[in-house]
Amino acid sequence: MPKASPEVAKILQATLVDLIDLSLLGKQAHWNVHGPQFRSVHLELDVLVTQVRESYDTVAERLAQLGVSPDGRVETIAGTSQVEDIGPGPIGSDKVVQIMADRVDAVSQRIKDALPQVEEDLLSQDHLIAVAQNLDERAWFLRSQIK
Ligand SMILES: [Fe+2]
Repeated sequence: MPKASPEVAKILQATLVDLIDLSLLGKQAHWNVHGPQFRSVHLELDVLVTQVRESYDTVAERLAQLGVSPDGRVETIAGTSQVEDIGPGPIGSDKVVQIMADRVDAVSQRIKDALPQVEEDLLSQDHLIAVAQNLDERAWFLRSQIK
């Protein structure tokens, strides 16, 4: 079984945490959106959540394959996520699209910035590239609804 370097493990774990948090915020936004684009944004947010859940499952299982225990506990998410909160309460459809697209872009950017640090493990790097590609697609779908 391959072993993860500390650097690769750190980046995969940080990505796992950010993706779990992003999926939780996606549901929060899905439930609290209102306004003229309610239906399309409500549905698109569930597409985001589904895709992000699939992505973090892949990242967690890559960690496990590398002999590192993935940590998806709520304490770990709350303590180490780099995703900015969206706050409680109802939120207008235009605003939520902007806010969630910004959060998706930020997670994608952190992954892209970390790619040179995982070059030693091309399979992990490939997983992370696929995650970032999916995030960019979702941000595009979100933003296209208000432009
Ligand atoms: Fe729903």
